[in-house]
Amino acid sequence: MSSALFSPIRLADLELANRIVVSPMCQYSANDGCASDWHLSHLGMLANSGAALVVVEATHVERYGRITHGCLGLYSDACEAALARVVAHCHRVGAAKLGVQLAHAGRKASSQRSWEGGGALKADADPWQTIAPSAIPFGAGWHTPRAMLAEDFVRVRAAFVDAAKRAVHIGFDAIELHYAHGYLAHEFLSPIANTRNDEYGGPLEARMRFPREIVRAVRAVVPKGLPLGARITGSDWKEGGLTPDDAIAFAKALKEDGLDFVDVSSGGITADTRNPAEPGYNAPIAARVKREAGIATRTVGMIVTPAQAESIVAEGKADMVTLGRAMLDDPHWPWHAAYALGAEVSRPPQYQRANPKLWPGAAMRG
Ligand SMILES: Cc1cc2nc3c(=O)[nH]c(=O)nc-3n(C[C@H](O)[C@H](O)[C@H](O)COP(=O)(O)O)c2cc1C
Repeated sequence: MSSALFSPIRLADLELANRIVVSPMCQYSANDGCASDWHLSHLGMLANSGAALVVVEATHVERYGRITHGCLGLYSDACEAALARVVAHCHRVGAAKLGVQLAHAGRKASSQRSWEGGGALKADADPWQTIAPSAIPFGAGWHTPRAMLAEDFVRVRAAFVDAAKRAVHIGFDAIELHYAHGYLAHEFLSPIANTRNDEYGGPLEARMRFPREIVRAVRAVVPKGLPLGARITGSDWKEGGLTPDDAIAFAKALKEDGLDFVDVSSGGITADTRNPAEPGYNAPIAARVKREAGIATRTVGMIVTPAQAESIVAEGKADMVTLGRAMLDDPHWPWHAAYALGAEVSRPPQYQRANPKLWPGAAMRG
């Protein structure tokens, strides 16, 4: 029986060998936004993981839009050159296509790296003024952002466009906008973080306005054949917050604005939000988005076993699955999934002799 997980899919003009996507994951290892040797090793490894698409971590469109001092950016020529080196390396040594996640951290910017505590930067750690739709902090002990002014809208929109141009220029195969996890665009969408009373606040239509303006401006500079998508929020998991119905309405709007795909994630709008700890907790929401918005849909969140990933795709809940921690834990997860599901996956010739079909030791692994 053939595997749905290992069947190809096309997004705009991009052919993907299977339905497995490596989730964008911050490495906090950049220098003033510039990718380092860590990115070369980390992404070089994942480029040979067997996943069809590897999405580079949140890459910030302006310096003050970074989450931490160690986050990637695409806001200077130096950032562009450093990331170009990584993209060229991955394309040279690996089989995966490479995507990039363009982001602005909004009120969650100016933070510590996760291993430094993950809270707001202290006064002695070079913090900066954050911006958000409204001057409401992410949680107790967090910076109070400045409510965005007219010039902030112009600058941030232009920064997304510039970063997208740079991403196209350095050869990324796909681009996704980070519209989830409590960062700037999600802050606009969620009534929990957006209490504006101008044309950017109030009903969902108005809260979607700025994220949609960015989408249309970015779409105008990204060639039609190059897939452009967004990671969106399936639920704020909070009374009064975004719901799956909002995700469907937003996905429909994004499709109208020219996006090729969405990735359904959730949570992160306030410091005290807790996501469900169930396997595939976003998959039921993704299934509704896919069915009701009619856009190519990925889903992420506690997708761990090959059988689980296979069933999400085979049952049509999502077109693709996105894996985060499972890929860090086992960067050859797709190889092992292919073995378990009786499918083929690309392996570099240097590692061909580890193909389970070619050595008896594989059977001992179970
Ligand atoms: C180390 C780490 C860094 C992350 N950085 C990002 C990021 O840059 N952008 C993003 O959208 N999500 C980020 N996430 C969230 C993951 O992409 C993913 O959505 C989440 O871990 C749930 O998927 P999982 O259960 O497969 O890990 C990060 C997660 C981890 C563990």
